Amino acid sequence: MNGDMNLTPFKELLLRTCGHSFEKEREQALSVSLFRRMAVQGMAGYDAYHALLLRDSDELLRLTELLTVNETYFFREPDHLNMMADTLLPEFMALRKQRPIRIVSAGCSTGEEPYSIAIMLRERFGAASERLFEVVGVDIDSTVIASAQRGVYGKNSFRGMDKSLLERYFEAGSSGRYQVCDAIRKQVGFEVVNLLGPSYPERMQLPDIILYRNVSIYFPGQVQREIFGRLAELLAAEGALLVGAAETFHHDIGVLSLVKQDSLFYYRKTPPLVFEERRTASRFSTTSKRLEAGAVRTGSAAVAKPQPPPMRPQATNAPDSPAKRPYSLPRVDIRERFDEAITLAHSKQYDTALDVLAAIIEQDGTFEKAYVLKGSLLLSLSRFDEALVVCKTVLERDPLCLEAYLMLGIIARQMRNNDEAIKRFREAIYLDATCWLAHFHTGEILYAQGDEKRSRSSFETTLKILAGGPLKELGQAFFPLSFNAEQFAVICRHKLSLLVPAKG
Ligand SMILES: C[S@@+](CC[C@H](N)C(=O)[O-])C[C@H]1O[C@@H](n2cnc3c(N)ncnc32)[C@H](O)[C@@H]1O
Repeated sequence: MNGDMNLTPFKELLLRTCGHSFEKEREQALSVSLFRRMAVQGMAGYDAYHALLLRDSDELLRLTELLTVNETYFFREPDHLNMMADTLLPEFMALRKQRPIRIVSAGCSTGEEPYSIAIMLRERFGAASERLFEVVGVDIDSTVIASAQRGVYGKNSFRGMDKSLLERYFEAGSSGRYQVCDAIRKQVGFEVVNLLGPSYPERMQLPDIILYRNVSIYFPGQVQREIFGRLAELLAAEGALLVGAAETFHHDIGVLSLVKQDSLFYYRKTPPLVFEERRTASRFSTTSKRLEAGAVRTGSAAVAKPQPPPMRPQATNAPDSPAKRPYSLPRVDIRERFDEAITLAHSKQYDTALDVLAAIIEQDGTFEKAYVLKGSLLLSLSRFDEALVVCKTVLERDPLCLEAYLMLGIIARQMRNNDEAIKRFREAIYLDATCWLAHFHTGEILYAQGDEKRSRSSFETTLKILAGGPLKELGQAFFPLSFNAEQFAVICRHKLSLLVPAKG
C-alpha cells in the first residue's frame, strides 16, 4: 500500500510532538494510519499531507489518535492501588490538612484507571472522599477523554474488577454496557493533555500522587527521561510517582528516589541525593547494570543507598568460615577463580565450587557475585536454611539484587509457601521484567493452583523471553540449572498444551 514511501519525515514529526517512535513493528501502524487520514482528507500525495500536518495541529491530533495504544481496564495492577490506600494516603492525609490530596492519572486512556482510584477512595473513606481527594485523568487522545467523560464501559473493561463493585458503582445500560454512577463520575476530572506539550494545566499542578503507568513503554529513552523529569518537577514535596511494573527501572535516573514498599517499587520526591553518595553507591546485580548508580528507600524511610561494609563470612558454622576453609587461595585473580567456580557449578561439582567460593570470599569479602553463586549452589544442594542466610546477607548489602529475590522465591516454593514465593518472584520481575525464571516458577505455582489464565500468561511470557537469546544474556547467569533453556521451553510448551481449553 505504501510502496516505497518515505516515512522518515512523519516519524520525526510524531517523535517531536507526541514522543512516540514508530520503528520496526510499529511502522506498519504508522503507514495504515497515514493512509486512513489521507483518505479522509482526500489527499493522495504524502508530501502534501506532511505539509498539512505541519500547519494544522488538529489534523496532527487526529493522526496521533489513530496511533495511540489505549489498552486499559478497571483495577489494573491493583497492588499499586492498595499500597496507595494503605500507605501513601494516610501519610498524605496527615501531611496535607489544608487542602485535598491531588491524584493524577497521566495517560488515563478511557478513564478506567482514575475511576478505579475514585471507587477505591469511596470504598475506604466513604462520602468524605469527595472532600478529601481530587482525581484528574489526562491523555493526549481527545477521543478517549470524551469516552472517559461518558463513563460507559463494556465487559472487557471489567475483567480485573470484583463483581460486587460493578453492582455498587455502575448502572446497567443497553447492550450489556454499564455507566459509572454519578457520585464517582463527579469526583474525576478529565482533560486532553500532551505530556510532551509546552505546559501542563492548572488541575495537574502540585499533585501528591501521579500514576503514570503503561504509558512510557511507547516512548524512546530520551522522551521517557524528559517526561519523567517534568512529572517529577510537577509533584508536590514528598509526592509519589507510580509507574507500571515493567517500566520501573527505566526511570531510576537520579531524578526521584526509588522506594520499595513491601513487594512494590515506586518513586518519591525527596531531597536530591548528594552526587557523591550516588556515585559511590555500588550495585552488583548481574542483570541490571542500569541500577548501578541508584538509590533505594525501603518502607517509608528515605535513605541514599549506604556504602555497605565489606561482606564477611557469616557465622563460624558457615561453610566458608576461615576455620573450615578447605584450602586457601594464593594471590590470584579472583575473577578467574570465580569463572572456575561457575564452570564447576555447571558441571554439577557443587561442593568443590563451594570450596572455591569460600576461598574467594575469604580473600575478598566485597566480591558479591561469589555470594550469589554460593546461594544458588546451596539451593541446588537443598541446603535451604544456609541459602536463606546468604540471601539475607546479599539483600542487606544490595536491596535490589535480582538473584536474591529469585532465590527467596525458590526457597519459599520448596517450603510450600506459595504466597510468599509468588510475592518474591513478583519482586524479581519488578527488578527485571525479563527474569524468565521468575515467570517460569510463577507459572508452575499458578498451574498447580489451577489458575489457568494466569499460569498460561506466565508460561507464554517465559517462552517469549527464552526465544530472545542465550541464558547468559538473559540474567540469572549464576544459576546452575538442571535443565537448559530448550528444556525449560519444552516444559512451558507442554504445560501450555495442557492448558488449552478442551474442545466441544
Ligand atoms: C496503554 S494506555 C495506559 C492507560 C492506563 N494508564 C493503564 O495503565 O491502564 C496509554 C495511554 O497513554 C496515552 N499517551 C500516549 N502518549 C501520550 C502523551 N504524549 N501525552 C499524554 N498521553 C499519552 C495514550 O493515548 C494511551 O491512552
